[in-house]
Amino acid sequence: MRRVERQHASGKMTARERIAAFVDEGSFVEMDPFVKHRATDFGMDKTEAPGEGVVTGWGRVNGRRVFLASQDFTVIGGSLGEAHAAKITKAMDLAAKMGAPFVGINDSGGARIQEGVDSLKGYGDIFHRNTIYSGVIPQISVIMGPCAGGAVYSPALTDFVFMSKGANMFITGPQVIKAVTGEEVSTEDLGGAYVHNQVSGVAHFIADSEKDCLEMVKRLLGYLPSNNMEDPPAAETGDDPDRSTPELREIIPVEPNKAYDIYDVIAPVVDAGTFMEVHPLYATNIVTGFARLGGRTVGVVANQPRVKAGSLDIDASDKASRFVRFCDSFNVPLLTLVDVTAYLPGVVQEHGGIIRHGAKLLYAYSEATVPKVTVILRKAYGGAYIAMCSRHLGADVVYALPTAEIAVMGADGAANIIFRDDIAKAENPAEARKQKIAEFKEKFANPYVAAARGFVDDVIDPAEIRPRLVEAFSMAKSKVEERPAKKHGNIPV
Ligand code: HXC
Repeated sequence: MRRVERQHASGKMTARERIAAFVDEGSFVEMDPFVKHRATDFGMDKTEAPGEGVVTGWGRVNGRRVFLASQDFTVIGGSLGEAHAAKITKAMDLAAKMGAPFVGINDSGGARIQEGVDSLKGYGDIFHRNTIYSGVIPQISVIMGPCAGGAVYSPALTDFVFMSKGANMFITGPQVIKAVTGEEVSTEDLGGAYVHNQVSGVAHFIADSEKDCLEMVKRLLGYLPSNNMEDPPAAETGDDPDRSTPELREIIPVEPNKAYDIYDVIAPVVDAGTFMEVHPLYATNIVTGFARLGGRTVGVVANQPRVKAGSLDIDASDKASRFVRFCDSFNVPLLTLVDVTAYLPGVVQEHGGIIRHGAKLLYAYSEATVPKVTVILRKAYGGAYIAMCSRHLGADVVYALPTAEIAVMGADGAANIIFRDDIAKAENPAEARKQKIAEFKEKFANPYVAAARGFVDDVIDPAEIRPRLVEAFSMAKSKVEERPAKKHGNIPV
């Protein structure tokens, strides 16, 4: 009882309270409540561990089956020993066989120290299943307490990581870091919910409270199929698929360098109120998330001109690639909204491996066989034009707005390079430069050259974006696209 009070005093629910808050009332069916550990060292022969420190089973979330493991911090700190791990892997195996999502609620001191290598074996068994079932059933990790040491690698292998405030994740804690490197850092600053949502990108969602966190998981599940053999569930959203979006004529600026907020474009295009952003605090120069269009789930990937001029950098490439691969694994069609200047130039980016990381996006979009529809809103320059789900990477439908500029680079930079001599030799170089920029703009800074080649299927009015997209995704619903047989590809990681 004292341990439950301690749990509540620190703002945490117990393992069972979390399950009760998550599943439909009365739907939880527990497995293995009588499992016992068989450890004898370090006093474990005399240690009772009710339920082995983890509650496992299945239940329903909004009527749909979900399998669960919820670690119980009140039992030996939720530490993971051989039997604890076996309960989790049994539930994971069942989830995979039945084709239902697996949700792991983490609140644990990590490997049960008294069980030594048996607990390491337990983690290994879990990691192996996380990997084998990746792309088979959605796997979601919810971090609601400590998640330390190698324990972090199960969440890292799953599709989405949620953290409630107060939770933390790290490989080595503050004390070990101080001993090894001399750095002093608090638990929160090292691996708190903000750090992993904003800085490291390890976590995709943050919530103020455990209750909010579980509500967010439920909402996310509503967009996803139960397994890779199913389509995502459709829902009646009450928003007219033919609704036009004239406000976008004002929102998307004609001037190539004027910033605007891509959320103001996403919101009116998708069914009202259905956009659920993934990774909202990380690499904010690209926006990813799920929404509904005509009631059906789509994965949205959009450049954010408000941040770093919407350029693609290392983190944005990683974020978008992983999202695209999730969508492709689980039959979620992809909507890409393009307004991108370039892959971000700079020594830090080059030395950080923008070549390797940026390649992931090319790979992810090329590999994806789900319906892919792209709208070029304004700028689409260079490699970033290709990367943002261009026709060349297999987009099924590509639209551009009349304001779109599809070119190797912006007019200013281009004129400086190809007309360098002409400008230098001119009587009035500044005037000549202006003229050459205008010439380049006239020729290339528009969507019609690409449209003339058929790289863009049509140039459309911003007011038409929504109805055109609804129709395009409806047309592409029956898409079948084969890839050569292989064991698996080798995405640059
Ligand atoms: C056994 C553990 C434990 C563990 C906690 N406990 N962690 N028992 N193995 N890993 C026990 C504590 O002894 C205590 O028991 C009870 O759980 C509650 O723990 P407290 O320390 O009282 O709680 P709190 O103050 O909230 O601190 C939580 C904590 C701390 C920060 C998680 O317990 C901690 O630092 N634990 C060790 C973390 C760690 O180093 N784990 C190993 C990581 S290595 P009593 O009976 O006293 O109440 C790892 C390798 C995995 O995980 C590799 C996989 C590849």
